[in-house]
Amino acid sequence: MTTFDNTLNADGALIVGAGLAGLFCALKLAPRPVTVLSPKPLGFGASSAWAQGGVAAAVGEGDSSHAHAVDTEMAGAGIVDHGIAESVTAEAAARIEDLARWGTPFDRDDFGHYALGREAAHSANRIVKVEGDRAGWAIMQAIIAEVRRTPSIRVVEGITALSLARDNGRIVGVFCRKLGDRYSEPVFIRARATVLAAGGLGGLYAVTTNPPGVRGHAMGMAARAGALIADAEFVQFHPTAIATGADPAPLATEALRGEGAILVNELGERFMPAIHPDAELAPRDVVARANFRQIQAGHKVFLDTRKVLGEAILTRFPTVAKYCLDAGIDPVSGMIPVTPAAHFHMGGVKVDERGRSSLPGLWVCGEASCTGLHGANRLASNSLLEATVYGARIAEDIGGLEPVRNLAPFKGIEWNEAEGEKAEQVLRDLPAVQNLRHIMTDLVGVERDATGLKQALRRIAALEANAEHVTSAYLNMTTSATLVAAAALKRTESRGGHFRTDFPETDDKNWEHHTTMTLEEALAIRAGA
Ligand code: FUM
Repeated sequence: MTTFDNTLNADGALIVGAGLAGLFCALKLAPRPVTVLSPKPLGFGASSAWAQGGVAAAVGEGDSSHAHAVDTEMAGAGIVDHGIAESVTAEAAARIEDLARWGTPFDRDDFGHYALGREAAHSANRIVKVEGDRAGWAIMQAIIAEVRRTPSIRVVEGITALSLARDNGRIVGVFCRKLGDRYSEPVFIRARATVLAAGGLGGLYAVTTNPPGVRGHAMGMAARAGALIADAEFVQFHPTAIATGADPAPLATEALRGEGAILVNELGERFMPAIHPDAELAPRDVVARANFRQIQAGHKVFLDTRKVLGEAILTRFPTVAKYCLDAGIDPVSGMIPVTPAAHFHMGGVKVDERGRSSLPGLWVCGEASCTGLHGANRLASNSLLEATVYGARIAEDIGGLEPVRNLAPFKGIEWNEAEGEKAEQVLRDLPAVQNLRHIMTDLVGVERDATGLKQALRRIAALEANAEHVTSAYLNMTTSATLVAAAALKRTESRGGHFRTDFPETDDKNWEHHTTMTLEEALAIRAGA
């Protein structure tokens, strides 16, 4: 691990976050110098490593990137940015080749072609995968090894970013603290280019498939610095988290339904065919709501893989099988209890096609960003694809900038002492964090209405007001929660992952567009709730 004084110069670009997007960007920047901040040792704590499905790419016989883009737009329920969908899907094959070149052992057939899986709402088999359900883990292992071999990449592990630093309106780096050391002085890391790749916000919900640290810190940090946020209301709930009571809830990949697994309730009733022509392979939001409503009606929901997989689940889906066996569920002879869980944030920091945010000096990629690719509902396995495409685009954009030789003398930084104090203490204030997570699941979840959303906003405000020490780390969480609830209240229709029981119809006339919001606007909505 690198040791640091209170001020560190990143000597080039600074990447905050060490999931797939951040590390891909670092590798694409090589041999330009880059510093990567990772709260935990590389490979731990990032959502990317938990991805089971794979990377969507039209690399199969007869498939096309255009067909992939069309599926992406269909899933996104009218608000996918057409140009972005076409360009991202067109770059997919090249990014898969990058991953393969850096050592990812993708599944292949006897002729060396990719063995492609199928997931919901894809019109072709186009999920490039590893050992069935181990894509995220295997990709991260390969890419971490490549990062470790790359001398231009400096990795600082065990450090967590708290706030972005601004100077004259430009982002000039981040304030950080050594993870778990609440008494340490904040460290300011100065950089000419800051890339925020610190993940989404699933962990703001009490029931989530995301790693514990993924709690809206990135979007919250950027919003507090003044960045424009887009589509914050669109949270994707995965229909089949395994209902073991564990936090986070382990995922049962959608690829199981791609193989023909069905959803039934405790009475053995299969309910999806009556809800959507694609039954269990309907878009993810449709399946999540169906499961949610079964549970609300007092039923239990199960994923039944017995007929289509039987014992093969043990070898073809080893991750899911292990989760089940660890929880005392035999997936060969029994059914897997499942529940919807917060899984992915379609919204985030608004970026352009190069990954630039609205703040000079700040680029954003991965789940923290909103590129316009996912619209109201992300197509399965498009997240790892987006992470690689934007990681590469940002590296190209930063690499192409003229070196700044005469940075303005550094006059000071917008660091709020009161905010910064005792960040770790509040992070450990588990009741405050747990209250926030329950507010989000209960009132800003699979189904929402104005009454619940207003209540959520009032309760989030009260949590902030009553917190003993309002720190940057906690404010990042409540800021993100505020943005999601405020945007959900503002969008008076239902679309994709955002379902309003008081506005159950899609309203194309008024709402077939992205929502953009600053923190100031979200706080005004909160104040009026
Ligand atoms: O079900 C899954 O394997 C999830 C894939 C994804 O979120 O893209």
